Amino acid sequence: MPIVTSTELFKKAYDGGYAIGAFNINNMEIVQGITDAAAELKSPVILQASQGARKYANSVYLVKLVEAASELHPELPIVLHLDHGADFETCKDCIDNGFTSVMIDYSGHPFAENIEVSRKVAEYAHAHGVVVEAELGTLAGQEDAVSVEADKAFYTHPEEVEEFVEKTGVDSLAIAIGTSHGAYKFKPGTKPQLRLDILDEVAKRLPGFPIVLHGSSSVPQEYVKIINENGGKLVDAIGVPEDQLREAARRAVCKINIDSDLRLGMTAGIRKHFVEHPDHFDPRQYLGDGRANVKAIVEHKIKDVLGSDNKI
Ligand code: G3H
Ligand code: 13P
Ligand code: ZN
Repeated sequence: MPIVTSTELFKKAYDGGYAIGAFNINNMEIVQGITDAAAELKSPVILQASQGARKYANSVYLVKLVEAASELHPELPIVLHLDHGADFETCKDCIDNGFTSVMIDYSGHPFAENIEVSRKVAEYAHAHGVVVEAELGTLAGQEDAVSVEADKAFYTHPEEVEEFVEKTGVDSLAIAIGTSHGAYKFKPGTKPQLRLDILDEVAKRLPGFPIVLHGSSSVPQEYVKIINENGGKLVDAIGVPEDQLREAARRAVCKINIDSDLRLGMTAGIRKHFVEHPDHFDPRQYLGDGRANVKAIVEHKIKDVLGSDNKI
């Protein structure tokens, strides 16, 4: 199957009460781990490359890796998505070079500028058969605490969403409801709680419209433990509870972004391998263990969090 857009996948996900996993890719082993899991479980999948990933690997390699995965899994619907495109030029470059979906992230700019740039990207993308995700609201970074007063500034304001979607023409919308990027999302001792009420208010205002959640890693403690038992030092790494993500997927959320969990899996596999086999120096041996963890994590997400298995 050629690499597809997310339009039909999101329609089915919205109606079916599940979400499509959007997993970040940086190298061949990550692409393989994700797509092998998705193919085995008959789950559509989004492979997304950040600007950092495009710089690290060179975007041409990433596009070709995804094309290879698509050729090897002809039955698997794969979307190739730009994650957090910072400007029109970055989005245009991806649209012109094999991506089927782009995110323009102008959420850190004033509302009017966010509308203006997102609209420009949507016009260009749609003229080239590509779909667009934009964002309203600002996700907290790694260190941000969630205190009731301070966090309000980060949440999406539901009263802005209709005007934004209408004026920009974007195809999906990322919102801020308490998730954040990285492995340190919540302070120890606090109760992680997504604002599903904001999600529902947005959904009421945009019936049938696909909503996206960034920062949705759950930071599985079994992998944190393996890392720390094998020379790592990740202290108080806490993610989003998986049952809350499952609940969001039953509602209007059609795309759930996961990167940090794959990083933890890859790192745990490699660290453990080095400790257990100090004589090994063949990258295929330790990268193979990292890849196996990526596959296992994606399988778990598809079955137990996203609910996207057996949907092809
Ligand atoms: O949302 C950010 C993703 O986790 C990608 O991170 O920019 O370090 O590749 P990156
Ligand atoms: P995590 O850091 O929670 O994996 O979020 C990834 C993400 O949102 C990529 O855009
Ligand atoms: Zn993100």
